[in-house]
Amino acid sequence: MKRLQDRTALITGAARGIGLAFAEAFVREGARVALADIDLARARAEADRLGPAAMAVGMDVTRQDSIDDAVARVVEGFGGIDILINNAAIFTAAPIVEIERADYARIFEVNVAGTLFTLQAVARHMVARGRGGKIINMASQAGRRGEALVAVYCASKAAVISLTQSAGLDLIRHGINVNAISPGVVDGEHWDGVDAFFAKYEGKAPGQKKTEVAAGVPFGRMGRAEDLTGMAVFLASPEADYVVAQCYNVDGGQWMS
Ligand SMILES: NC(=O)c1ccc[n+]([C@@H]2O[C@H](COP(=O)([O-])OP(=O)(O)OC[C@H]3O[C@@H](n4cnc5c(N)ncnc54)[C@H](O)[C@@H]3O)[C@@H](O)[C@H]2O)c1
Repeated sequence: MKRLQDRTALITGAARGIGLAFAEAFVREGARVALADIDLARARAEADRLGPAAMAVGMDVTRQDSIDDAVARVVEGFGGIDILINNAAIFTAAPIVEIERADYARIFEVNVAGTLFTLQAVARHMVARGRGGKIINMASQAGRRGEALVAVYCASKAAVISLTQSAGLDLIRHGINVNAISPGVVDGEHWDGVDAFFAKYEGKAPGQKKTEVAAGVPFGRMGRAEDLTGMAVFLASPEADYVVAQCYNVDGGQWMS
C-alpha cells in the first residue's frame, strides 16, 4: 500500500530542488501533486514529466491574489487539498552593516508572509472541508542559530519555526497537523547561489564554500534533495497524526535540538 494513496498535495516552490524531489516522492507514494511555482514554465515541464498525477500552477507566494487563485485551482483540479508543503523561499547574505531594508522586506515577504498566508489559505479550505490535513513548513538549520553573514535569512527561518509552533497548536483542533523540516546544507541551485554570496564576501573561489561546509557535516557530505523526502512523506502520512507543532532536523547530524 502506498503511503499517500489518494491524497492531494500542494507544494510551493516545486519547480526545482527540494520541492521537486518532494513532488516526485509524493507521486511515487500515490498522491496527486500540484507543483506551484513563480516559474510556471519549469513547473509545467516537471509536471508533464511526472505524468497525470501531477499538475502545475503558477503561484507567487508574495501576492494574496496569486495564493488564493492557486489554492482555488488546485481545489478545482483535485477536489480538495490534503497536504501543503510551504517550500518556496529565497536566500540573501550580507554583513550587518550592509543589509538593505529592501532586501530584508523581500526575504520576509517570500519566506515568512508567503509561508503564513499560504498556510492560512489552505487551512481555511481544510477547516471548511472538515477532513483535517497535513501542513509542512520548510525551515532551516539557519533558523536554529544566527550566522555572521546571514542575519536576514536566519531570522526569516526562525520565524518559520515559530509560526509552525503557533499554527500547529491552533489548528490541531481541526485535525490539521502543522510541522516543519529543518534541512542543513543541501546541494543544488539554491546552494550555488549561497556559494556565490560567500565567494563575494569571504573571497572564496567558486565551489570552495561548498567543499568546506560538506567537510563539516558529520554524515560526511552535503545533503541531497532526496535525503529530505522520507521525513516529508512521514509528516504527510497518517503515521504522523500525533505529531504536532514540531520541527525536525534532517541535516546529516549538524544540529541537535
Ligand atoms: N538547499 C539548502 O541547503 C536548504 C537548507 C535549508 C533549508 N532550505 C529550504 O528548503 C526549501 C527549498 O530549498 P531549495 O534548495 O530547493 O531552493 P531552490 O532555490 O532550489 O528552490 C526554491 C523554489 O522556490 C521558487 N520561488 C521563489 N520565490 C517564489 C515565490 N515568490 N513564489 C513561489 N515560488 C517561488 C523558485 O522559483 C524555486 O523553484 C526552501 O524553503 C529553503 O529555504 C534549503
